[in-house]
Order: sequence, then C-alpha cells, then structure tokens
Amino acid sequence: MQIAETFAPAAPAPAVEDVARAALAGLSQPQKSLPPWLFYDARGSELFEAITLLPEYYPTRTEAAILESAAGDIAAGARPGGVLVEFGSGSSRKTEILLNALPSLCAYAPIDVSRSALDDAVARLALRFPQLRVIPTVGDFVAPLALPGRFAGHPRLGFFPGSTIGNFAPAEARDLLAHMAQTLGPRSRLVIGVDLRKDLSILLPAYNDSAGVTAAFNLNILARLNRDAGADFNLDRFVHSAVFNAAEGRIEMHLVSIEPQRVTIMGRSFDFAAGESIHTENSYKYSIPQFEDLAHRAGWTPHRVWTDRDRMFSLHELVIKS
Ligand code: AVJ
Repeated sequence: MQIAETFAPAAPAPAVEDVARAALAGLSQPQKSLPPWLFYDARGSELFEAITLLPEYYPTRTEAAILESAAGDIAAGARPGGVLVEFGSGSSRKTEILLNALPSLCAYAPIDVSRSALDDAVARLALRFPQLRVIPTVGDFVAPLALPGRFAGHPRLGFFPGSTIGNFAPAEARDLLAHMAQTLGPRSRLVIGVDLRKDLSILLPAYNDSAGVTAAFNLNILARLNRDAGADFNLDRFVHSAVFNAAEGRIEMHLVSIEPQRVTIMGRSFDFAAGESIHTENSYKYSIPQFEDLAHRAGWTPHRVWTDRDRMFSLHELVIKS
C-alpha cells in the first residue's frame, strides 16, 4: 500500500467565512434560502447516510442495483489505465461497485465538500483496494477543476451518482455538466445518476420519512449555522416541510418558522413571519429524454442509459466526442 499517496493531504474543510457569507446572502433574499452544500458537515453527512438506508428513500438502493448490473458494460467501454474522478463522492460506497469492475484503473480522485466523509472513505478504500491510488480533494465541484498534472495523458472517467445533479436548477445543471466536460477533457466519459419523475405516493414519503431522519437532516443546517456562523436559531421553532412543485418538476425542502421570530447571524438580524420558510433544497426529477436533452446542450453526447424495471431511477453514460 502506498500510504503517502493514499493519504495525500486534503484541503481544509469549508472556511467559516464561506459558511457565514453563504448564509447571509441566502437569508437576505425575499424567499429566504440556504445552499444545500451547507447540509454536509460531519453530522449532516452522517444523517444523509442514514437517509440512504430508509425504507422510503428509494434512490440509493435503486441506483446501486442499476450500477451492479451495468458495471460490466461500463468497464468494457472504458479505456484502460484511466482515472476515475467522482464529483461529490460522500462515503464512496457506490464507487466500490465500479472499482470492482475496473481493475485496470490508475487512480481514483474523489471530490467532496465534507472533509470527514472523505477521510472515512479514503481509509476504507485503502483497506479494500490496497493497490489503488486515491487522491482526495475537499471542495466544491461546481467550478471547473484542474486535475493533478500527473493524470495528464490518462483517460478520464467521471462519476456523478446519487442524483446530486437534481439539486441544481436546469440552467445551473447544464453549466455544471459543461464544467465537468472541461475538467475531464476530450474523449472523456461521465456516468451520472438521475432520479426520474414518478408518482407522488412514492416521491413524497422519500422526503418525509416516518422516522424523521430527513427532518433531522434538514434542521441540522440550522445547528451548523449556530456553530459555524454565530447564528442563534432555535431548532424547536422551525419544522421540516417537503413538497412537490409540479410547475418546476422538483421536490422542495423548506424549514418553516412556526411563529414570528427574529434570528441573529454575525450581528445581522432576520425576521420571520409565522409560516415563513427557508428554502433549503431542490431535488429536480427528470424524464430520460429531458435529461438527455440537457446533457446534449452541455456539450455531451448521450451514449447509453440503464434503468430499473420500475423506471424509478436512471444511470446515464455520456461521452465527449472530440
Ligand atoms: C443527495 C441531493 C440527491 O435530493 O434526494 C435526500 C439529498 N435531501 N433527502 C436528494 C436529500 C433529502 C438528495 N441528493
């Protein structure tokens, strides 16, 4: 095992100033909002892991099953000696399915906003894949990234599972896919998971689970702001809400103020009316042609798509032709 390589120093966790700046900007809007990357502190990453195991939360297990059955095809189409670049790797659990099918990989480069999630993943992968070079990066994957120079000349395979793309409005999603094309470069591929439109009887419980884990995940963003941005949110005075916005084709999560109240962050105060909400997340749901069209407009060519038999979730392989 190449310890020095495997435990290559990651960048620090998101700076406190970035957290405070994001919070102040979002809460100053007429519809108060917070960016979803703020969910993923150590506790938030743990709660998200718990969400993925909930009976109501179908995406993770459905995508893993699709990946199990498609991994051989993906590996057969991949050029040998490549680098697997994962955007928003979290626990890297689904990655293991691909890693098992891609023995000729030269390195794995996970990128995630959660330092703790990356550290745990890197430690686990070092045990399970002792030959694999792992090069972690703590950070946001929204902007184009420069991959370490030693990967120049190696084929690159991007991996963006979990339907994280659904957190972005279509225009942003298109820009993000275009940035990924830029990061990965000519002749690259991208394997991306996309949640599909479906009946509300399945969709709504996935974001409103009976054990209250999603509510805890949503409220944890306020606990994080109290800790990292000097805020004084009272978590008992906000409640979790998840609704489907049919016009936009998205699930929206909100934190609803149960009474009129004032919250202070870094000396600035924000007033809430009873029933006023903070919009914390969008989760867009696509049809397969709708997503393929979006990918196309970002400069990718849709190549193959896999889905489960109930058409709950889709896994797309996109290619850059030149
Ligand atoms: C990680 C963004 C795909 O939108 O389903 C889970 C996050 N939010 N439950 C999603 C999430 C509430 C999740 N993504």
